[in-house]
Amino acid sequence: MERLQKVIAHAGVASRRKAEELILEGKVKVNGEVVRELGVKVTPRKDEIEVNGVPIDKEEPVYFLLYKPTGVISAVKDDRGRKVVTDFLNVPQRVFPVGRLDYDTSGVLLLTNDGELTNVLTHPKHKVDKVYIAKVQGHPSKEKIDLLRRGIMLEDGKTAPAKVKFVSGDKKKNTAIMQISIHEGRNRQVRRMFEAIGHPVLKLKRERFAFLDVTGMSPGETRPLKPIEVKQLKEIAVT
Ligand code: URA
Repeated sequence: MERLQKVIAHAGVASRRKAEELILEGKVKVNGEVVRELGVKVTPRKDEIEVNGVPIDKEEPVYFLLYKPTGVISAVKDDRGRKVVTDFLNVPQRVFPVGRLDYDTSGVLLLTNDGELTNVLTHPKHKVDKVYIAKVQGHPSKEKIDLLRRGIMLEDGKTAPAKVKFVSGDKKKNTAIMQISIHEGRNRQVRRMFEAIGHPVLKLKRERFAFLDVTGMSPGETRPLKPIEVKQLKEIAVT
């Protein structure tokens, strides 16, 4: 037997604290009866537990796209009380980000409670394209851009070949806008790649994840994925 709030949290429906709130609000039923006390013990998979009318072991998978603003952590909670990506969604399911964007990076981020799809989309073998727009210091030469295209040695090994395009340059400010497409997802990879050729990134946005982008959205906005988009993502997973 285990505490009700712990069982709810383990099912991935809500954090333990949120589960306690749901119980106190009368939103949890055990074997058809509303339970409002926190001490109740249950047997997982034997007792039928419902949260907001949905059996916990049958929580529907949900998929959202967030236009992540800068200044937000790609996590579900932060010990230092900073804003996290799930603060932008108010849903009963316990969603988490698919991979990460740095605190200072904006752009496309998926949020879901589908752990299986997350594992697949973040596994390097599936080579999901991620396209970034980077404002960098200076104007990278063709030779330096070619280093990124071929793959460059970083402290955690050589990067896979990348697609890199010069978009525009600002001579006065001595900065350039570059587009880079990679399919790996190493920590701070784009920043480290440009750093390695001597052109540090000043600003970074993920423009696209697979076929998904944030066209027409504002930073901080979310939208549910369309069923066809979920289907397409799952197709990436089987190829
Ligand atoms: N590469 C980075 O350097 N930062 C990100 O947030 C994503 C990719």
